[in-house]
Amino acid sequence: MHRPVLLREATELLAVHPGGVYVDGTFGRGGHSRAILAELGSEGVLLVMDRDPDAVLEAHRLAGEDSRLKVEHVEFSRLAERIEAHGLLGRVDGILLDLGVSSPQLDIPARGFGFSNDGPLDMRMNPHPAQPSAADWLADAGESEIAAVLRDYGEERHARRIARAIVRERELQPIVRTGRLAEIVASAHPAWERGKHPATRSFQAIRIHINRELEEIASVLEQSVHVLAVGGRLAVISFHSLEDRLVKRFFKAGARGDDLPRGVPVTADAMAPPVLRLLNRGQRPSAVEVEANPRSRSAILRGAEKLR
Ligand SMILES: C[S@@+](CC[C@H](N)C(=O)[O-])C[C@H]1O[C@@H](n2cnc3c(N)ncnc32)[C@H](O)[C@@H]1O
Repeated sequence: MHRPVLLREATELLAVHPGGVYVDGTFGRGGHSRAILAELGSEGVLLVMDRDPDAVLEAHRLAGEDSRLKVEHVEFSRLAERIEAHGLLGRVDGILLDLGVSSPQLDIPARGFGFSNDGPLDMRMNPHPAQPSAADWLADAGESEIAAVLRDYGEERHARRIARAIVRERELQPIVRTGRLAEIVASAHPAWERGKHPATRSFQAIRIHINRELEEIASVLEQSVHVLAVGGRLAVISFHSLEDRLVKRFFKAGARGDDLPRGVPVTADAMAPPVLRLLNRGQRPSAVEVEANPRSRSAILRGAEKLR
């Protein structure tokens, strides 16, 4: 089961109008999509995307009952291409991105994301054979590459020590189970944080790397502005500081006007007018939501409207 996070807040921020065209770039199990559909009239369109085959299966099931829904099994970095294929370029009234992984991805051991239940060490949101799994990557990557991923994507202070342990252990036996990786990280980790499994940061880091999550976000943000209609809105829910930093910077740059190269003296006519208007300063879930759904704890919703 996936409980949608910041559901009412995100739907309100999109200000769905009945005849509009909307995109849910991260369908998951469709919690947000259903809320958008509830506000859409019979003329409205909702195009949904997900890279996960299980999510897409559920989306197709829903589309079978609701002809306003169109489904694309793609990475959201192909947003502009797919919007163009549907003839909707510049006509999109709202885009929602609810980033990261869904609860089923984390909870089903066979998907290999979690350290709480042992499973194959996979972590691909789209388990396509051509794309390396976490086990494939850990078998080949150099020690310093592993350390850099753990540090940059997990903000793991003990990245070097953990990377060394991984390389040592894989010489003895390939690391192909989530449980084994969790044990290796836990025994190499010198400073366990209270209330947090010592492998939390490492698992997050490897997942982000395997799925190229930050590259995907940077790409979809740029394309969003291109596909939106003037007055169209973009709503993004992030779950950790690396995601939120990208979103916040992008929104701020759009609201300020184009960035100028360093060293260029700023004159009034060198500044392009802003492309975006910020709709909030980052909204967090209520205490009631966090109590009911602890996974929402770290969520932050940002929204912006396209001005030109
Ligand atoms: C937090 S869940 C979304 C949950 C959804 N809002 C709901 O209410 O059920 C994130 C979803 O986005 C998908 N996803 C993450 N990154 C993606 C990307 N780059 N392209 C397409 N889908 C992606 C994941 O597969 C996952 O299903």
